[in-house]
Amino acid sequence: MAASRLPYPLTLTGEGLVLRDWRPEDLDDLVTLLDDPDVARWTPMPTPFDVEAGIAYLKRAHQGRISGQRIQLAITEDGGRPLGEVLLFGVDAGLKEAELGYLVGSQHRRRGLASGSLSLLSAYARSSLKLGRLLLRIDPANTASTAVARRCGYRLTADPPILQVGPHGPSSLDTWELPGDRAATRLERLKNVAARRYGRRT
Ligand SMILES: CC(C)(COP(=O)(O)OP(=O)(O)OC[C@H]1O[C@@H](n2cnc3c(N)ncnc32)[C@H](O)[C@@H]1OP(=O)(O)O)[C@@H](O)C(=O)NCCC(=O)NCCS
Repeated sequence: MAASRLPYPLTLTGEGLVLRDWRPEDLDDLVTLLDDPDVARWTPMPTPFDVEAGIAYLKRAHQGRISGQRIQLAITEDGGRPLGEVLLFGVDAGLKEAELGYLVGSQHRRRGLASGSLSLLSAYARSSLKLGRLLLRIDPANTASTAVARRCGYRLTADPPILQVGPHGPSSLDTWELPGDRAATRLERLKNVAARRYGRRT
């Protein structure tokens, strides 16, 4: 399947988790989860993350979902209250690559929620969306996030650091990649390059 338009609605089940789309009634829980110093430190979320920010966030999430541009799912144990979020975005259907991200509320950390959710969404991206290159961008000082990446089998790449300036000053993000169908992915890239060079679309 070409990943240019991502499926909506979507529920993923496994690893003792239910990943589901955000709902308007999640607003209070969303604000509690995202109004957090670690989320402010390591993600581009507005801070403080208040009700107004929450309303804007849910609206943007919904737009991204119905337009098929992003997968942005609440992490739950049973389809009920959200405990965190896992995302897939920046899909390049030609290169068959996308970036993933995650956060978990401070009350729910160190219980395997981030690693379970990342594993589930990565497997779905590989098997159903046919995305060969799955990427994470992580500040090397974010030890919790690098531990999640490692636990899910992602490996640090030699890609040059991505520089960004945030409220905490300049930082650089490493790129992590999930190994797997590397040969197939490389072949796919070569096919795309050849198609561009010779004016033929695959
Ligand atoms: C990063 C984050 C999502 C981890 O969520 P979590 O649900 O606690 O992670 P898990 O329980 O799945 O832990 C997975 C691994 O990370 C380790 N880990 C989790 N938090 C850690 C911490 N603060 N320091 C060191 N290791 C940590 C766990 O021990 C586990 O390691 P193991 O495989 O050796 O058992 C959470 O801390 C968070 O939301 N942080 C703020 C947002 C953020 O940084 N997002 C990522 C941006 S790139």
